[in-house]
Amino acid sequence: MRVLARVRPDLECVEADVGGAALARGLPALPPQARELCDASAAILFGSVGLPQYDGKPLPERPEYALFLLRRDYELYANLRPVRVFAGLEDASPLKRELVAGLDLVIVRELTGGIYYGVPKEQRRVGGVDEAVDTMIYRAPEIERIARIAFELARARRNRLTSVDKQNILETSRLWRRVVNDVAGEYPSVAVEHLLVDTAAMQLVQRPRNFDVVVTENMFGDILSDEAAILTGSIGTLPSASLGTRGTPGRRFGLYEPIGGTAPALAGKNEANPTASILSAAMLLRHSLEDETNALRIERAVERTYADGKRTAELAGPASALSTSAFADAVVERL
Ligand code: IPM
Ligand code: MG
Repeated sequence: MRVLARVRPDLECVEADVGGAALARGLPALPPQARELCDASAAILFGSVGLPQYDGKPLPERPEYALFLLRRDYELYANLRPVRVFAGLEDASPLKRELVAGLDLVIVRELTGGIYYGVPKEQRRVGGVDEAVDTMIYRAPEIERIARIAFELARARRNRLTSVDKQNILETSRLWRRVVNDVAGEYPSVAVEHLLVDTAAMQLVQRPRNFDVVVTENMFGDILSDEAAILTGSIGTLPSASLGTRGTPGRRFGLYEPIGGTAPALAGKNEANPTASILSAAMLLRHSLEDETNALRIERAVERTYADGKRTAELAGPASALSTSAFADAVVERL
């Protein structure tokens, strides 16, 4: 919020409790007041949801339900997760430096379909036995629109697109691959490869720098984006944008959030890395407020902060670590 206020003092920012913060007040995970504020806004800058005390509860009583509803009800189908290794952080990666130096890829995750949302989705008792079902379903137009987003992005980058599926086993994947190949015809400059998700998981650690844009369905994207994130040394550096159907390019309504979810062990300690949130705000300016200039300004300021050796605890070790607020100060100073 402080970074945004510095570059865009004209923005009006309003806050609402959702997830655990709302549940703790006896409200639903996404209270009506929060929804009304979102309805009236150009974009949502989202914190993180998830707390261990809700584990095992049904989804509607969990903090994650807020995110589930926002993504579904605003049809935020296109989730962009850029993964970059900042100069100076190459040695923070669990992989060898030469594998990750200069790494720059984007995961384009389908966010409103697949097994997250398909019905039936329930636990039930059949013939005296407990069972549970989730449904993985895709309709061709859902695949086509996310494929288009990915091809457009690849064309603006290094012209390489990797589509990830499990077509040796899943019908949804066979449809996915067919539709991606159909759309590919419209983008002759983009080289397309198809990988099975297990192979993709392996190659992400084997040759991460060869990836440019990776497009995949909802749950594969959830899993692969955490894997890709840790290549950077800290999941706390990765932002995301979830874009929908409302608005026009550059002025799309969207939700912006760190990809990592909560870190309950760090709550209240002023220790968590704010980079993912700061970079999410930059993406918000780029995609929802048509403000590329300030988006780049924020991104450059974060890069300089790392180049100058500033680190939060998970990257520095306790001795030289900056707190959350001190790291944010360092970014604001460089704006
Ligand atoms: C993510 C998160 C969410 C997801 C959780 C918090 C529901 O892991 O955005 O990747 O599974 O989509
Ligand atoms: Mg996830």
